[in-house]
Amino acid sequence: MNKFLIVANWKLNGSINMISSFFEYIKLHASIYLEKNVIVIAPPTIYLERVYRKIAKINIFLGAQNVDINLKGAFTGETSITMLKEIGVKYVIVGHSERRLWHHENNDIISKKIYLIKKFNLIPILCIGETKYDRDHGKTITIIKKQLDDIIAILGKLVFQNIVIAYEPIWAIGTGLAADPKNIQLIHKFIKNYVRIYDSSIKNILVQYGGSINQKNVKSFISQPDIDGLLIGSASLNAEEFFKIIQISHNFLKNKISYYKYFYISNHLN
Ligand code: PGA
Repeated sequence: MNKFLIVANWKLNGSINMISSFFEYIKLHASIYLEKNVIVIAPPTIYLERVYRKIAKINIFLGAQNVDINLKGAFTGETSITMLKEIGVKYVIVGHSERRLWHHENNDIISKKIYLIKKFNLIPILCIGETKYDRDHGKTITIIKKQLDDIIAILGKLVFQNIVIAYEPIWAIGTGLAADPKNIQLIHKFIKNYVRIYDSSIKNILVQYGGSINQKNVKSFISQPDIDGLLIGSASLNAEEFFKIIQISHNFLKNKISYYKYFYISNHLN
């Protein structure tokens, strides 16, 4: 089976009504497109359980946008990995640039989160990427290396086994300015080669692209050989737009390698 990983990051958006109409749309129009791709929806924490109930009988997985570094205790406002796992979460986004910026998450904190997510057999989606300033000053590769190096220094060189890496240039997020797919291809290839320098035993490295993906530009990204999935913000909030993207991927990605081969997580298929 050829599968491609498409993750909807709803960020701080959504409502009970939106969730109802989103899944109503899927039931009516989109369920046939769920077979060929792995689809993950990451709603705000408060809606995780509601979305879980909606996806119980369809081929969509649950993602969380964040997790705390503690398992329990006096940490007001936080959610632990065991709580996320208990309600059916399979993927957890970490290191998103919005969390790095607004919540001051550094690579130490991100590493602690990755450690916990892997320890509990869930799949981290590690976001990396550079600012516009960095890009304009030719520092894209330096920034990416540092983001990967810091995590390897803390968690060891095998850390990227069973992880999804999402390359998201910050200047492309939510701006409508998607990056040039050919450039993204080069960066994805670089990321894969770089991870392999540390871990030559790693079989497959799954690198998603994120940043202003929509139904008009999706084909130009998925046609690049080292883009293995998409992390989608704004365009995932509208069921019609989101499923158009999935439909395009479904029809186009006949030859991508099997996604399920990548991961050890058997409960992923439950
Ligand atoms: P965007 O967001 O698709 O709205 O650019 C992507 C992301 O931040 O994950």
